[in-house]
Amino acid sequence: MIQTKGVRLSYEDHGEGLPVVLLHAFPFSRQMWQPQVEGLRGDCRLILPDLRGFGTSESTAAVESLDTYAQDVAALLDHLGVDRAVVGGLSMGGYITLAFARLFPQRLLGAVLADTRAGADTEEGRAAREATAVLAETRGAAPVAEQMLPKLINHGDPSRSEVTSRMLALMRAAPPAGIAAASRAMAGRPDSFDVLRRLACSVLVLVGTEDRVTPPEEARKMVAAAPHSRLVEIPGAGHLSNLEQPDRFNEALRSFLASLPQRER
Ligand code: MLT
Repeated sequence: MIQTKGVRLSYEDHGEGLPVVLLHAFPFSRQMWQPQVEGLRGDCRLILPDLRGFGTSESTAAVESLDTYAQDVAALLDHLGVDRAVVGGLSMGGYITLAFARLFPQRLLGAVLADTRAGADTEEGRAAREATAVLAETRGAAPVAEQMLPKLINHGDPSRSEVTSRMLALMRAAPPAGIAAASRAMAGRPDSFDVLRRLACSVLVLVGTEDRVTPPEEARKMVAAAPHSRLVEIPGAGHLSNLEQPDRFNEALRSFLASLPQRER
């Protein structure tokens, strides 16, 4: 646990070597990275925070913007004595990675943007986020989880029931205050294509071919904007590609880390 801006944050720190921070999706927790802990702990140092308001980290009533979560990540790195790291995230974790890149570009050894987008929300999207925040505040996490689940999974593959129940359990466990605060912060996030265009580090963009929340065309737009980027499309995976196709996800991440300049590894 660390204390930052009045909130206690929990995290896991596995393995050694190149520090790699992975930021979870909404409304999940660091537990969604279990397949990466199993598959990658021998390859790098994995630093996995529960973002404020999720998992076992404390909540705040409101969060000003996604910058708050990015500043929490910087505070965690300070606490661990890590100056520079590969920082990445899936979906909301990707939005926060972009916020981190805007605030602390010099701290990035590389960036990983999985099943995410660089654009801001539409007016309609912002209204839907407010409805999600109110739903969480009035009725709790369960109805939010049930509303989200159909969008997350790849319906083409009925053999995923174990992954589906895991996703549902993680979402149902999310604290309502954390859901509401993150929904409103995501609604206010700016367009980040300018950040991508300026990024000096290498960028791995990953996407499930069946992702309907942040489809492959969003990934291609990010790759077109970031000068040092590569795209990996993961066949048969929906939005949570790291959970649906962990081996392919891990392989893409492992080969990206191996491609970074020696001095950065
Ligand atoms: C996520 O997976 O983090 C969310 O679907 C992101 C979003 O709602 O934009």
